[in-house]
Amino acid sequence: MGRAAKNYPFVGLGRGDNHVIIRGMTGICFRRARGKIRGLLWAVLAMLNLTALALGDIVPRERLLMDFGWKFHLGDEWGLNENLAKAGQSDGPAALKFNDTTWREVNLPHDWAVELPFDKHANYDHGYKPLGPGYSTNSIAWYRREFTLPSEDHHKHLWIEFAGVYRDCRVFLNGFLLAHHESGYNSFRCDITDVANYGGKNVVAVRVDASEFEGWFYEGAGIYRHVWLVKTAPLAVAPDGVFVYSTFPGNMPGANATVHFETQVFSTSIGAANANVTWEIFAPGGNKVAKTRAAIEWKPRSTLPRRSATVEQSTEVASPILWSPESPALYRLVTTVASGGQIVDRVETEFGIRTVGFDPTNGFLLNGRHYEIKGTCNHQDHAGLGTALPDALQDFRVRKLKEMGCNATRTSHNEPTPELLEACDRLGMLVMDENRRLGSDPATLANLEEQIRRDRNHPSVFIWSLANEEYVQRSGNGARIFATMQNFVHQLDPTRLCTAAMNGWSSHGEPDGFSIVMDVQGFNYYHIDDMDAYHRRNPAKPCIGTEEASTFTTRGIYADTSTYKSAYDKSKPDWYGALAEEWWAFYAARPWASGSFVWTGFDYRGEASPFHWPNISSEFGVFDTCGFPKDLFYYYQSWWTDKPVLHLLPHWNWPGREGQEIGVWAFSNCEEVELFLNGQSLGRKNMPRNSHLQWNVQYAPGALSAKGYNGGKLVGETKVETAGAPAEIQLTPDRVKIHADGEDCSVVTVSIVDSQGRIVPTVNNLVHFELIGPGRIIGVGNGDPACHEPDVYPEQRQFRSVPLDGWRMTKVADVKHRPETAANFDDTAWPPVDVRAASGPLKEGESAVYRTHFSATERDLAAPHINVQFGMIDDDGWIYVNGRRAGQSHDWESDPIFNIRPFLQVGENTLAVMVKNGDGTGGVNKGASLELQEMPDRSPWQRGVFNGLAQVIVQADADAGPIQLRATSDGLAPAVITIDSEPYPALPILP
Ligand code: GAL
Repeated sequence: MGRAAKNYPFVGLGRGDNHVIIRGMTGICFRRARGKIRGLLWAVLAMLNLTALALGDIVPRERLLMDFGWKFHLGDEWGLNENLAKAGQSDGPAALKFNDTTWREVNLPHDWAVELPFDKHANYDHGYKPLGPGYSTNSIAWYRREFTLPSEDHHKHLWIEFAGVYRDCRVFLNGFLLAHHESGYNSFRCDITDVANYGGKNVVAVRVDASEFEGWFYEGAGIYRHVWLVKTAPLAVAPDGVFVYSTFPGNMPGANATVHFETQVFSTSIGAANANVTWEIFAPGGNKVAKTRAAIEWKPRSTLPRRSATVEQSTEVASPILWSPESPALYRLVTTVASGGQIVDRVETEFGIRTVGFDPTNGFLLNGRHYEIKGTCNHQDHAGLGTALPDALQDFRVRKLKEMGCNATRTSHNEPTPELLEACDRLGMLVMDENRRLGSDPATLANLEEQIRRDRNHPSVFIWSLANEEYVQRSGNGARIFATMQNFVHQLDPTRLCTAAMNGWSSHGEPDGFSIVMDVQGFNYYHIDDMDAYHRRNPAKPCIGTEEASTFTTRGIYADTSTYKSAYDKSKPDWYGALAEEWWAFYAARPWASGSFVWTGFDYRGEASPFHWPNISSEFGVFDTCGFPKDLFYYYQSWWTDKPVLHLLPHWNWPGREGQEIGVWAFSNCEEVELFLNGQSLGRKNMPRNSHLQWNVQYAPGALSAKGYNGGKLVGETKVETAGAPAEIQLTPDRVKIHADGEDCSVVTVSIVDSQGRIVPTVNNLVHFELIGPGRIIGVGNGDPACHEPDVYPEQRQFRSVPLDGWRMTKVADVKHRPETAANFDDTAWPPVDVRAASGPLKEGESAVYRTHFSATERDLAAPHINVQFGMIDDDGWIYVNGRRAGQSHDWESDPIFNIRPFLQVGENTLAVMVKNGDGTGGVNKGASLELQEMPDRSPWQRGVFNGLAQVIVQADADAGPIQLRATSDGLAPAVITIDSEPYPALPILP
């Protein structure tokens, strides 16, 4: 589309570097690469021929998903628990020995805000959830996760990666405070190399404090993105240490692309070290198309324990297959690091070959040609889930957007989840990657650096947005801050330009504020100011629409009420918004403006607009919160895709309105549309470009239908029929086969249909769900912006504590294989002992065996955990249940706890504790109890449909097998579907 245009200046800046010298060498069988020499502090090294090395193929890098098996507690009974005075001594849940058995088990991603009830007095921006300022009890929570590390790992370098925690969290490992990270959106890492227990148990504890807000929309709360444990060799590619990008002369794709690599390698050794870095490129079909390499040498430097070096190189790729939303071709870069004759690291990076640029007259250029942005802005928030979106939902949402012809998404107003960018790379969706905070202070710049380094390899990302509607956008300070941030971004990424979403710009005078310095002028809402005047006065400035519309519509509603806005394109905020066809017609006529982004693709919780309580979500979306299309979907699809589209609104169920006029609209891109009621033509009309057609029709039940013509030829037909009484439920999964990886999901549509299978568009029946098989329901929704039904039904676990009394004790000579610990040993002659005392009867060096008996029922044993908890075992203790060793304790100050469920039997059980006292007095003290976990109590999943539709999200377990979902509702025939959860190569998971 459009003619090839002049590219706006490509940013090409050097980046700061450190103390190592690198020289690039030619590839073995490819064209000579352009070598670069940076930071001349050390002597240039001769390149080694890697093929001559006897390289081992053991690559120690592992990236293990830590999403499963977390313990969660909402509340802050323990306070911060940092011990700032002494390392490793943080207490409460931060300590290794803390007992979290009664905490709830959760998997990540997890958003606890979505689990809270709605509260009329809570913040409207944040969806009336009772957390944040004024709600201290719901705003702080703890997460804990236990894991063991093999002793061999102690030679490695280890860190935990958090993709996003909302917000202000402290991370502890084994009582060591590792990080205090405030941003709810930036990813971060905690190096655990020095504080991990190798060959033993480790506990990572995260205290999350969502008492403050960062945005003005629903932001969730908790560890709502993935967590990974990464293990590497001591010399390896640094985190986010690979940068790959391509260039063409004049930023115009040609026969050969130059592919540039930058790889940051770190070495934890303080002595001299050598490394060879090899880059191999594999084309979309899998063929290797380029290979090149470079060498690094570190001189011994005692002051820098973790030294890194950045090595640069480039090579040519002939006849490159270009990435675009229409053809998202991905190349794969394999970066291999060898040292000491062995491969020590290998990292794979997907990337795309494409150019992006801007032209003041022709707007955005993709691969050298004008490319109209047909975008949507989106928050990460989905029905049933809040901000905690499994990866399958990222795909689901991107696929929905693509279906309507959308080719770009703006990650308003924060750094996105990495898996969204992966979905956009893979499925073909451009991304305006936005940051959260405007600022040039070191902390904000550090977050920005993390964002750019993490996201700059994604071909989908075409521009950075550094701010949205900042109050300082037109001030001198604003300009200075913006310039500092933009320069910083250019240092980290020479391939993309920056913008900001400005709601106000200088139309009549000289540009001011951000506009003076900004690469690409961004406009939020063309009604706010005069874009044409700006363009006339600044003809050399490239421009882009950053946000538009804010049109209000509710799915399935055709008359405004006090909570809903009709789904015709009729309602916009009176302060600046635009109807869909107003803004799109405006941009479609101005290629220099590059297109824009609809506010929003999907409805989202919070910013309940245009109505406040009882509404809890916005009504701006082209889709509702479930991803069900509203009618405007078809408006955009008509003008954003090439396929023939023909859609009629409203629905045709208007009992009691027979003979009255009803406005009927057609969204279509057909040249002519003819409307029929019950087979009778109501006229054929020409479709105005970028608009819609409209008839007033006297209502009679039956079929409203339309035919679409191009060049006089019939190209499409559609029909809306009056549905009968609701008769049955239908369940329609978006995918009938999912992966048995514990994460994958099927998004199931629940429809209420009449006896002929037609959706009844006006009903709100309550539907109950039951699931059998290796899966679970993780959320329900219906897209109603005023619905207060729960989205989730979390498991409530109750624990019953039963004191263990009736102890007898006898002193023994030693603690070696005592027969007194056997199940059937006769202890009736032993004297009773009170274990509730504060100190025990054993003298220095004495040993004893304690015994008691209790009975367990079948119901007790149905619980997954039955713990025995001791107030104190002073000093060393060995626990036997029915004669089998069930645990040991060697810390007299702890209150040890053991899960003895595996050793128990129905009926009589024997518990024996063999104790050896050290100094002072000793024994079993301060009481003992059994903690019995009741069977999980979960309210059954249910949801009312909204205008005929609801959604259930089903997630696979790690075991394969058929998952059966059953839906029932009073007076309706039930529905049952089977989703096949299929064996899938196991994800690398940290057990
Ligand atoms: C814009 C803002 C968005 C959202 C929208 C609602 O000004 O950038 O975040 O608040 O208004 O209309």
